[in-house]
Amino acid sequence: MTLRVAPTNHRADRLLLGFSDLRRLRSERPLVFERGRGIFIIDERGKDYIEAVSSFYCATLGFSDEELAEAASRQLRTLPMYPSAIHRTTTPVLELAEKLAAIAPIPNARVHFSTTGSEVNDHLIKFMWYGNHFADEPLRRKIVSRLGSYHGSTIATAALGGGSDLHASFALPMQESILVSHPAWPKAAEPGEDEAAFTDRLALELARAIEAAGPETVGGMIAEPVSVSCGMFPPPEGYFPKVKAVLDRYGIRLFVDEVVTGFGRSGHMWASEAMGLEPDTVSCAKGISGAYMPLAALIMGEEFAGRLERGSDTKGWFAHGGTHQGHTVSAAVGLKVLEIFERRDILGHVQRLIPYWNRMLDRMMAHPLVTGSRRFGLMGALEVALPGGGEKGMAASLAVGGLSKAVYEAGLEHGIIVRPLAGCIVMAPPLIITEAEIDELARRLEAALDQVLADSGKVAEAV
Ligand SMILES: Cc1ncc(COP(=O)(O)O)c(C=O)c1O
Repeated sequence: MTLRVAPTNHRADRLLLGFSDLRRLRSERPLVFERGRGIFIIDERGKDYIEAVSSFYCATLGFSDEELAEAASRQLRTLPMYPSAIHRTTTPVLELAEKLAAIAPIPNARVHFSTTGSEVNDHLIKFMWYGNHFADEPLRRKIVSRLGSYHGSTIATAALGGGSDLHASFALPMQESILVSHPAWPKAAEPGEDEAAFTDRLALELARAIEAAGPETVGGMIAEPVSVSCGMFPPPEGYFPKVKAVLDRYGIRLFVDEVVTGFGRSGHMWASEAMGLEPDTVSCAKGISGAYMPLAALIMGEEFAGRLERGSDTKGWFAHGGTHQGHTVSAAVGLKVLEIFERRDILGHVQRLIPYWNRMLDRMMAHPLVTGSRRFGLMGALEVALPGGGEKGMAASLAVGGLSKAVYEAGLEHGIIVRPLAGCIVMAPPLIITEAEIDELARRLEAALDQVLADSGKVAEAV
């Protein structure tokens, strides 16, 4: 590790960090980053890390794109902000809405801007309630989601999916949530069940859940094309068509959450396109601005937007808005992202890179700790387990949070950031990564895996 600059003395215990151990935060300084360079992020000591998860799957164009910085600063000097509401908007917001509608995986789309993935999904629920109220379906307030998926941190979005920690103690899920199984194929298959039987069972579970809730009370189902939070299981063949058939039978809408999968992650602009989904709405955030500025958008089909129009016609206005819903600087960055995608052929780059990425994942399978892999576009999940099974021989420090957490911690030492989930680590590097950088990522990851393996061996010997 190169120590180039002394860390600052700013206290960290004044800060309340999400998804963190708050007690640890009071006594131990968190990792503090200062700069970014391409796919690398550099901490206050000058140590670099490959951000193999694009931080929160969002730094799709890396951490130092001059064009994005320039677009933001130009907009800051031209018109730094002006709310888009009250029959007023600004040129970048108008232009971005038009461009997004043109590339949306929904015909004749309408676009509503917000700031984060959580906010856009929260608005989605709010809009669904509003629209259904004015479409004489006021009872259709419930929304189906898949257990373990992640759709945001607001009250309503945390209630959709989520692990038990996201629900317990937060008085969630709310009464409008209906939670069904995630299509974790083949892990969640029952003995002897093939893909067709598995997807039939899940479709039946969905239908039963809707029947139990009362079909007239269910408005929509929200789903990611591939959920990273659930361990990145690409859905088995037939899953979405069967889900869609059930939803159509009951007049329930499909809301696709492309907060992670949108903007090139699949090698297509939208995973909906790649997978042939027919969503009523698409939620996007993160990659829409490369996460350089908070920006999110709800892209709506005609029917969904038409219900909002009807409400507005009835009341004389659409009683919803917000200061930063359509921020000038965010929109300017969003426009630059679209321009960069086209000019630098980001989708072509990702498509060319995917086979190389997959070969790297295949190579990782040779490591004694890696027991399986999954992939979708420029994403990958590696299952990890100790040879011989179980994590019994692990040192206490290794066992906290399981093996994947140990790989994450070792990764930090070796200059790579991966995402630990139950039994696997997930990676989704910036889309601008090169073949040479994938090699370097693999080298650092292998070093981390080797270290965990060696540590577990030492413990086994000592027992
Ligand atoms: C699929 C999905 N939807 C929504 C969100 C929430 O987005 P945000 O963190 O911008 O609020 C996330 C965040 O990771 C996500 O993965």
